[in-house]
Amino acid sequence: MPSSRRTVYEALELVRHTGRWPIAFEFAWSGLIFANLVATVLESMPAVVGAYGPALALFHAVSMVLFTVELGVRFWVCTADATDRYVHPLWGRVRYFFSTLTLLDVIAVAPYWLGVTLDLRFARTFRLLRMLYFFGYGDATESLAAVFYNERKALIGALITMMFALFVTSSLMYLIEHPVQPEQFSSILNALWWGLATFATIGYGDITPVTAAGRVLTGIAAVFGIAMFALPAGILASGYASELKRRDFVITWELVARVPVFAKLPASKIADIAGMLRVRQVRAGEVVVRKGDPANSMYFIAEGEVLVDIKPHPIRLRNGEFFGEMGLLERAPRSATVSAARTSRLLVLEAQDLARFLDGNPIVRETLTRATADRLLHQQEVEAMAAAEPEQRAS
Ligand code: CMP
Repeated sequence: MPSSRRTVYEALELVRHTGRWPIAFEFAWSGLIFANLVATVLESMPAVVGAYGPALALFHAVSMVLFTVELGVRFWVCTADATDRYVHPLWGRVRYFFSTLTLLDVIAVAPYWLGVTLDLRFARTFRLLRMLYFFGYGDATESLAAVFYNERKALIGALITMMFALFVTSSLMYLIEHPVQPEQFSSILNALWWGLATFATIGYGDITPVTAAGRVLTGIAAVFGIAMFALPAGILASGYASELKRRDFVITWELVARVPVFAKLPASKIADIAGMLRVRQVRAGEVVVRKGDPANSMYFIAEGEVLVDIKPHPIRLRNGEFFGEMGLLERAPRSATVSAARTSRLLVLEAQDLARFLDGNPIVRETLTRATADRLLHQQEVEAMAAAEPEQRAS
């Protein structure tokens, strides 16, 4: 992999947050994004547009050019992602395109180039999310997204209960209030608007009951509304707390020493490798490496289980085992697709770190080389059996 691509990748994605240039870029770019937010607000003020319209338009155009160049560079370098997610020159980039942040970046610049007549200059504000990553809060955002996913059943349950209560109360309210104020409560839809404002305790007051029964019902709805809105908030808070605990997973010396490949190394070597490893958490079914993709890293299973997709019988690898070494040692594309069989924690070792580590650790090199030879042999046997089967059937 060209090292310039790797350097630019690190500067853009700021994986390591070190070096004068990445930090300078981080600040300059955050400043540009922030200035765009201010410009978006200013462009909504007729007096400011009257006085500085051309300057704002020029700033918008220059920003769009810069953001587009940045997007292009991101596409160029995304294949250097150490987690192998975008490693394939074509499909990797397609996957990168469909990642949430990239889509938001595209939405931020596309209206400008497509000449959309609708005023979508506010789309620039989507770029604000990049700042989260610049300043290292990307993980926290991903945690929040994971909480919504993990707690989806409880949240949907709470939502259905809320909808049920809202519909029943609003329909009752319609029955009570419609005869007295047919204009205010003209339909159940109108009553639903009342219900929403009451349950959420916003209380706009544009539709209010006048009957005693209606007022009692409003009181009950307001009290239960607080409880019902507190329910999803509680689910999210507890889910977020446990997700953070799960992510707060540090690579300790003991953890690395438990991996059989490293277990017999001297303590200082274990400390060396611990400094090179990173944690990657994967969900059940998530693909970690894809057959045919180039190889950037290898993986040790700290906790969990993965499936190596080999026909006819996939192979399960569990705690302490490793995969992805073949691509690195053979300098070949991935020989099989490996996906998580359940939520797992992997320790990721990048190609250059592995090469450096193996230079000083011939025992580990031998273990990995032997595993590669055995696994290659197994793959060849499986392929030979698969090739022989149709012939046997034919004869
Ligand atoms: P790599 O080829 O980089 O990516 C796919 C990985 O699956 C491969 O490295 C091995 O680590 C693993 N793998 C391939 N074949 C086998 C096998 N027969 N047994 C266990 N693991 C395998």
